[in-house]
Amino acid sequence: MSDIVVPFTDLQRAYEAFKPEIDDRIREVAGSGKYILGEYIAAFEQAAAEYLGVKHTIAVASGTDALHLAIVAAGIGPGHEVITTPFTFAATVEAIEYTGARAVLVDIDPDTFNIDANLIEDAVTPQTRAILPVHLFGLPANMKQIIDLAERHDVLVVEDCAQCFGAAIDGQVTGSFGHAGAFSFYPTKPLGCLGDGGLISTNDPALNRRLRELRNHGISEKGEHVTLGFNSRLDELQAAVLQIKLARINDMNERRRQIAAHYNSVLSDAGAKTPRPSHGVHHVYAYYTILVDDRDTLRAQLRDAEIATALYYPKPLHKHVHFSTTCRFGPLNIAEQVAQQCVSLPIFPEMKDDEVDYVASTTAALLA
Ligand SMILES: Cc1ncc(COP(=O)(O)O)c(C=O)c1O
Repeated sequence: MSDIVVPFTDLQRAYEAFKPEIDDRIREVAGSGKYILGEYIAAFEQAAAEYLGVKHTIAVASGTDALHLAIVAAGIGPGHEVITTPFTFAATVEAIEYTGARAVLVDIDPDTFNIDANLIEDAVTPQTRAILPVHLFGLPANMKQIIDLAERHDVLVVEDCAQCFGAAIDGQVTGSFGHAGAFSFYPTKPLGCLGDGGLISTNDPALNRRLRELRNHGISEKGEHVTLGFNSRLDELQAAVLQIKLARINDMNERRRQIAAHYNSVLSDAGAKTPRPSHGVHHVYAYYTILVDDRDTLRAQLRDAEIATALYYPKPLHKHVHFSTTCRFGPLNIAEQVAQQCVSLPIFPEMKDDEVDYVASTTAALLA
């Protein structure tokens, strides 16, 4: 029996990795007397836009708000449909439903766990206004096919980038493909803050203007309430922390990728279906999820070995009471099957090498 205990994630370690800089910056912001929509937000938005390769970013209170406001700003509402995936966190579909629009769920690709772009066309109707791909677990969806399809049908693309800050396809960063990208800075995300936070990316100046109004009670630059808005501002403290972490996002993602590469090499030989991003696709492994036949037994055995695991997601959304009645969907067999076989192993940048080795070798031995 090893004396190693591996948590699924460890946010104290994540804080320790940045502690001196974060502590200094928190003191600085606290002493500034300016806490809402000030210079730290502006600086972070600019740095994020440069990183993502987009013209504008708008920082908001959460990833859920980022999705919701992006959909509102795109003019989507009652009577409209938005095509998305059933294998995602509830916020993806909640954001659609908050606007009065209906989510249409399309099955996933068993290799990427992302929406199967080949099935989208059949779900398009005259009511369709947008396609909302989720770059699940940090792996980009098939954006080339999705953008082509959206152009052909004259619908928008809103990317759910909650789990994928820094992921890319052929060097183009996710969040820069569609009309808007919605990011989450929930603490466990690849780029996480010390609470809730989110951001929208866009190249469209009109969408940028409207989103700045929507996040701040509908107030225009001239101080007029021009629309029904929300209170959804990221605060200065979180922006200051995020600016520090953004400067090191590539290093953090690289560490996740190293850990994943080690897991891949050990576990694929042991019979697990491991993630295999196609050529040119840069996966950032927000979660490391494998498919195994008897995942409940594996989880119990890993728990006995002091290795924490998690299920993303044990049920696709259409199997939940609420969404089973509100969404439109056909057969979703792959999502249902994947939900029964998936299990996520610990992966976070501050994991130590002996923890990584222990997770890989223990899991492989259990699967053998
Ligand atoms: C795929 C996906 N979309 C949206 C969200 C919502 O983000 P937040 O928790 O910041 O509201 C999450 C967060 O867990 C997510 O994983």
